[in-house]
Amino acid sequence: MKNVKIAVLSGDGIGPEIVAQAVKVVDAVAAKLGYNISYEEAMVGAAAIDAVGDPYPESTHEVCMASDAVLFGAIGDPKYDNMPNAKVRPEQGLLKMRKKLGLYANLRPVSTIDALLHRSPLRYDLVEGADFICVRELTGGLYFGRPQGRSEDGLTAYDTCVYSKEEIERICRLGFEYAAQRRGKLTVVDKANVLATSRLWRETAQEMAKEWPEVEVEYMFVDNAAMKIIQQPRHFDVIVTENMFGDILTDEASVITGSLGLLPSASIGTHTSLFEPIHGSYPQAAGKNIANPIATILSAAMMFEYAFSDMEAGAMIRRAVIRSIEQNIVTEDIAPEGVKPSSTTEVGDFIAANI
Ligand code: IPM
Ligand code: MG
Repeated sequence: MKNVKIAVLSGDGIGPEIVAQAVKVVDAVAAKLGYNISYEEAMVGAAAIDAVGDPYPESTHEVCMASDAVLFGAIGDPKYDNMPNAKVRPEQGLLKMRKKLGLYANLRPVSTIDALLHRSPLRYDLVEGADFICVRELTGGLYFGRPQGRSEDGLTAYDTCVYSKEEIERICRLGFEYAAQRRGKLTVVDKANVLATSRLWRETAQEMAKEWPEVEVEYMFVDNAAMKIIQQPRHFDVIVTENMFGDILTDEASVITGSLGLLPSASIGTHTSLFEPIHGSYPQAAGKNIANPIATILSAAMMFEYAFSDMEAGAMIRRAVIRSIEQNIVTEDIAPEGVKPSSTTEVGDFIAANI
């Protein structure tokens, strides 16, 4: 028996519904592969603001620190989106959690599933076989740089982009490592023609490249990368980039596979790793049992691989997910025309039963 402890942070919107499906699937894997799993739920996001006034309370942090992995749903509530003056925002919980858990790397794999190529907004021949991973820096840059705020008269606002060489090195190291394990190609995305932080990124990556002769490195400006992801997604193997660029490019990249509801992510760093779908809280669908649980279920696959070093479990989950897609047991966002969409729970049940 392998004993593991998982912190379950469902959060807002569709979070609780999709996380419940991932838990079902994790239980099915545990039964097959001999895991003894204990779950501990903790609150986060708007739900936590409503309950205790803090989107990432200390009690939740303690649960995460004491666990082997965090399974995370989503954060965000529309009531805050149009409230620019709100003192506490749900997203602050996510940022605080990333910082306090030291989750400096966010890994977002993007690969197409053949049975879903028809859903891609891109032409079949462009997107078929695309398979890359984006390594996004997660605890630095504009999201965390200080000062941030407003002038006294309220008419000027500022954010600060800061990166230390050390922060750049540790994230680029992951980029080089993944590239070496994959097809040997690393794209460093920056805006070195304009930004000082980007020039430090490029300089640092250039120095490190000498240690990785087997990795072919290219440097690309972010605007060009945004274009190339659409024009030639197969060009990429591993992309490494700073926080804000990574945020934007991964949303862009996610849709080329056919649905934002498919893409998982892993955040890793100094303390407990965290696994979450990249799509967010999708409040319009909350409580309706229609949201696609696949991204969260695939995040659970990444959890087995990255947190428990169990490749077999990850592969089992992926196979069951592909079967659900091939047999059209899918939610409305990816259901082909003429096929009755399944509910969130039906998809979860099918995938768990097929483990
Ligand atoms: C993401 C999200 C978050 C981010 C938001 C909700 C703060 O968009 O995880 O990509 O920008 O990092
Ligand atoms: Mg984002």
